[in-house]
Amino acid sequence: MKKSLSLYIHIPFCNSKCNYCNFVSKVGTEQEKRKYVEFLKREIVMRAKEYNKLYTVATIYIGGGTPSSLPLGSIKDIFQTIYKYFTVKNDAEITIELNPNSVSDEKINEYIMSGVNRFSIGLQCINKYVLLAMGRTHTVEDFDNTIEMIRSHGISNISADIMLGYPGQKLKVIQETLNHLIELKIPHISSYMLSVEEGTELQLMVDKGVKYLPNENTVVKMYQTIATMLKNHGYARYEISNFAKPGFVCKHNKVYWNREDYLGFGVAAHSYISGVRFANTEDINKYIDCIEGTGKVPVASAQILTTNEKKEEFVMLSLRTAEGLDTAAYQQEFGESFLAKNKEKLAFYIKNDFLIIDQAGRVKATDKGFLVLNKLILELCSD
Ligand SMILES: C[S@@+](CC[C@H](N)C(=O)[O-])C[C@H]1O[C@@H](n2cnc3c(N)ncnc32)[C@H](O)[C@@H]1O
Ligand code: SF4
Repeated sequence: MKKSLSLYIHIPFCNSKCNYCNFVSKVGTEQEKRKYVEFLKREIVMRAKEYNKLYTVATIYIGGGTPSSLPLGSIKDIFQTIYKYFTVKNDAEITIELNPNSVSDEKINEYIMSGVNRFSIGLQCINKYVLLAMGRTHTVEDFDNTIEMIRSHGISNISADIMLGYPGQKLKVIQETLNHLIELKIPHISSYMLSVEEGTELQLMVDKGVKYLPNENTVVKMYQTIATMLKNHGYARYEISNFAKPGFVCKHNKVYWNREDYLGFGVAAHSYISGVRFANTEDINKYIDCIEGTGKVPVASAQILTTNEKKEEFVMLSLRTAEGLDTAAYQQEFGESFLAKNKEKLAFYIKNDFLIIDQAGRVKATDKGFLVLNKLILELCSD
């Protein structure tokens, strides 16, 4: 029987660049975008020759950058290539990322006609001053209109991204942002803690003292507020940054956390197939030249994970989820007991209410544990 596979497609273009973001994306011309899509399609065809006989596609995620910044017709074109060369399950979850500054009813219609059944929209915050400070070029009204357009096509599977910890962003603004999303009945919310990334405009401003980051206590308070508000409104925290109403958990995300196989297409896209991680080049010109000149996919790095690396990933990814770490699965994969190996550390964390072990033998972070999760993971990954 064929195995299940997930596909990720990277679109490295945005209508404008936010000052905190170091995702591989730029403001491209229409010509650049069209050329990129041509080569993306070639990569899909090349990879399909190798993988389609072994796999059936269960989820597709088209992200970026901003996929909705592509010209009308490009997304349809990409999906037609996927459907022609890969076997995609009838009930596949198919997500597209949108920025409220680059959508139209025509585009949404095109995506739905191409099979998209889940929309993920970047809002970040509803406060216009914070949005401006971030370098975002949309308003909360643009977001609301986007939701209305999507819903008018009968789609309910919608996610919104929000951000916490941006300089100058008050707790009150986060509460207002959440209230807005709760009122709009958005069934899935991803809440990302700001990370100041190397080489971004934000990093320069922070280094120069033009912008000040909130202190750790404030950020923890913000996260706690988000978790509590969403819990009180019927959202389950199924991963540290992801909250969903019943029936709206993102299947594609779960593939990453469960270390199942996925293939990434386009610049900077990562893949994980049978214990091997590989990534395409981040350079659009190199990407195009390599496919054109050699007929090969421009892989920039490939790594066969060692057993220790696999163990670390297992711990790190599973503890971020509400399902936690399955100790039986750990034993089965690595031939050793996670509980015995970490006996003292686990006893300490359980006694102090950071972790629990449930009846099925899963190690799970508590509410208190989620607040210091990175530290817990680091400890449990060290010998
Ligand atoms: C790659 S973007 C795609 C969505 C779309 N481009 C948009 O911004 O509306 C996915 C999400 O990553 C998050 N993100 C990007 N850079 C981040 C950073 N430095 N720290 C935390 N979250 C970040 C934002 O919340 C963003 O919505
Ligand atoms: S956050 Fe989204 S819109 Fe902003 S630069 Fe990054 S990918 Fe583009």
